[in-house]
This record gives sequence, structure tokens and C-alpha cells, in this order.
Amino acid sequence: MTKVNIKNIGVFTSGGDSPGMNAAIRAVVRTGLFHDIKVTGILRGYDGMISGEFLPMERKSVANIIQRGGTVLKTARSEEFRSKEGRVKAYEQLKKNGIDALVAIGGDGTFTGANIFHEEFNIPILGLAGTIDNDLQGTDYTIGYDTAINTVIDAVDKIRDTAESHDRLFIVEVMGRDSGLIALRSGIGSGAEAILIPETKTDINALLKRLEISRKDKSSKIIIVAEGDDAGGGFEIAKIVKEKFPSIDTRVSILGHIQRGGSPSCMDRVLASRLGVAAVESLLEGRTSEMIGIVNGKIHFTPFSSAIKHNKDVNSELLKIVDILSL
Ligand code: F6P
Repeated sequence: MTKVNIKNIGVFTSGGDSPGMNAAIRAVVRTGLFHDIKVTGILRGYDGMISGEFLPMERKSVANIIQRGGTVLKTARSEEFRSKEGRVKAYEQLKKNGIDALVAIGGDGTFTGANIFHEEFNIPILGLAGTIDNDLQGTDYTIGYDTAINTVIDAVDKIRDTAESHDRLFIVEVMGRDSGLIALRSGIGSGAEAILIPETKTDINALLKRLEISRKDKSSKIIIVAEGDDAGGGFEIAKIVKEKFPSIDTRVSILGHIQRGGSPSCMDRVLASRLGVAAVESLLEGRTSEMIGIVNGKIHFTPFSSAIKHNKDVNSELLKIVDILSL
């Protein structure tokens, strides 16, 4: 391995937390120490970088965290870092503390900031795809997605028990402001009768028609709707359904932030560990300004500028499955 001269890697989490971020932090710290490089934890994302909240990391600092949800480094969505002034302050803090490379764990907002920061100050920086939304280009899965969809199916299985007992229709709203990937996979996994996602235009009339047909042979039903769907969230969909079918006993359940918490699944822990090791070793090889993900089982690099484009393809095979298996 060709080694670039890096002495102290700063690692931070930013944006919405996701289960597995701790496993990623652990991997970055332990890989850095393995290669005799200092690792510094930066608290509260870009905000902590600006205010100089730095924590020297040792092996022990990351003991017993692989199984914990959330992020021990805390996280934030920084307003100040959006300004040039904020970024100058952040760079000065890094220089003062001898931090000469960065690993950013987060989603599109995190990498938008990282991209600008690298362009302005030329500090080596790599990103790990960490968000429950799975909405980044250049990775099959993001850290936290697997845990989140398993949380959703666990919740929907429970909701189905009561839906079945009462012959009810439940509209379950899941997270995904700009992305329907949580809804799509958890909807298939929980056997939902319909799945509404922002990536495809929601045809309300077709939905109502299918509800009409299925009324005859199915007493309970689950509709999964992504919070960012073009037809609206859970309550909006329920209103439309109730207007058309006042006799259907309809309830809404918004799963909310339980989807972001909890102990990461084994898939997320292993993904986070692989990405964390790759981040440190790739910085040492001179790579920068890229997001690291996994494509077809292999480590994959995508320039920040491409990773953050919100146009991840929705798997057409999954969409077809929904059509065949639902209602
Ligand atoms: O980016 C992850 C995400 O969970 C989105 O799906 C959701 O819309 C958003 O974060 C909510 O973020 P917050 O609660 O931090 O405002």
C-alpha cells in the first residue's frame, strides 16, 4: 500500500443518525491505530468542528459500541457550516489541532458540505454512506437501512395483528422525505397491500379501485406510504380513502423516529466495519472527495458530487413484485 503522509484523522457523524454509525466510528478508530495514525473524534458534526470539540480516540474509546444505535460522537445539521465564515473557522480548528484528513459519516447534506470543504481547503476527506434512507448514488446499501427496514416490518407485523382482529385498513407512514426505498422494501417484506413512494407518481384512483375490489375478499389491509409521497403522507391518504369509503374502518400509524434507533442488524454492523476500514486505508492511498459504498458486494468509490444526486434508480423488479403480490 502506498502511504500518503497523514498523521491525524478526524472522524465525525453528521445529519440524521442511523444504526451502525457507532460500528463505523469503531472501525475508523481501530484501523487508524492499526496503521499508527492518530484518530480524533469530532463531536456534533460540522458544528463541533467549528467550535473545536475534539476528542482523542483510543482503542478503549470505541469498546462496547458496535451494538449500540445512535452515535457516540453525536450529530447535528449545521447551519453555520453552510457559510464560508463557518467553514474557515472549521478549517482553522483542524489546523490548530493537527487534524490533516477527515472521515465523514452521513448522507447527502454531509457530503455536500464535505465536497465544498475539500474544494476550498484541499483537506483529504472521504465519506461513509450512513443514513436510513438508502438514497445515495453509488452504494447498494447505506449504513442503517437494513436495521430501519427490519424495525418497520416488526412494527407492521404487530399492526397487522390488530388490523386483522378489527377488520381494519391501516395506513402506515414510514420515513423517507425524498426517498421511497424504506417503504418499498419494508412494504414487500411485510406483505403490504399497497406501497406509495415519491419516485413513482401515485395514482389515487387506481388505489381506490384496488381497495374496492379487495374489500370483497380481504378484511384487513396495510398501505405503506413514504412520508414524502407526492399524494401526501399517512393522514392525507387516509382522508382521501375515508371520503370514498366511509364504511372502511381506517387508522393511521406514523412510525417516525423509532426507525432511526435501536441496535444495528448484523448486516449494518458488517457494512459499517468494511466501510470504516476502507476509509482509512483509502485515505492513506491518497484518495479523497469520494463516498465509499458497496456495489455488488465490493467496496465502491463515488465522487461526492455524484453520490448526492437524488436520482437513485428504483429497482424495477421490486416494483413489479409489488404489483403482482399486493391486493
Ligand atoms: O434522513 C433520514 C431521515 O430520517 C428522513 O427519512 C426523515 O425525513 C428525516 O431524516 C427526519 O429528520 P429529523 O427528524 O432529524 O428532522
